[in-house]
Amino acid sequence: MPNPSTSMYDAMSTQRAVRRLRTDPIPPEVLERILEAGTWAPSGGNTQPWRVVVVREGARKQRIAELYQAQWAQYAALYRRGLSRLSGEALAKQERTLAAGDYLAGHFGAAPVLLVYCFNPQLMAITDSDLDRPSVVGGGSVYPAIQNTLLACVSEGIGCTLTTLLCREEAAMKEILAIPQDWYTCAVVPLGYPVGKGHGPITRRTVAQQCYAESFGESLVV
Ligand SMILES: Cc1cc2nc3c(=O)[nH]c(=O)nc-3n(C[C@H](O)[C@H](O)[C@H](O)COP(=O)(O)O)c2cc1C
Repeated sequence: MPNPSTSMYDAMSTQRAVRRLRTDPIPPEVLERILEAGTWAPSGGNTQPWRVVVVREGARKQRIAELYQAQWAQYAALYRRGLSRLSGEALAKQERTLAAGDYLAGHFGAAPVLLVYCFNPQLMAITDSDLDRPSVVGGGSVYPAIQNTLLACVSEGIGCTLTTLLCREEAAMKEILAIPQDWYTCAVVPLGYPVGKGHGPITRRTVAQQCYAESFGESLVV
């Protein structure tokens, strides 16, 4: 159920991957609000170098779902192999996540909406593109828009998960969605009302673990 009184801190601290989604449609006015939240995001030079293709048509969703399922199967097989060193609650937690991932992969096309995020690098000032390491700055002009939409989903009681496995199927995605040659894909977010509780408690590292004082590695006392 929508909860317009959700505080920003509540939304940020409960926005988790919700992978079990109902098939009921999302009302157009709700979809409009969560998409608008995305448009409020900052981007380098305010060029807003992203677009989102809202996919609701069954046949198109199904083609995308088949691609996702194949990518998930490969990813999950590797992930499962890595679980052999775990036991007890740590193992149980990973298995729950994998089961939720299996569910999402098996029902990807049944989500009422798939948001496919596209970007155009020619519209980005990618200040780390010449460095001898993977470039991340360009993503900073796209993922804040996605995060805004994910947070809006929390307020609206809509389940969502940011997924990136379909980047490996970019050529096929471009063909399915008629994405122009100079635009690329960076995420697909399935949306739907949750089967279970939806957003809720998350597990994250603490401020003490993530933040340093003055120089890297130095404990921070706020
Ligand atoms: C960049 C990025 C890529 C992700 N890709 C996928 C994905 O392809 N499939 C998926 O099921 N979850 C994906 N996730 C969701 C993460 O697995 C999830 O956020 C993380 O495990 C923490 O889980 P929680 O948000 O439920 O606490 C992705 C998240 C991010 C931020």
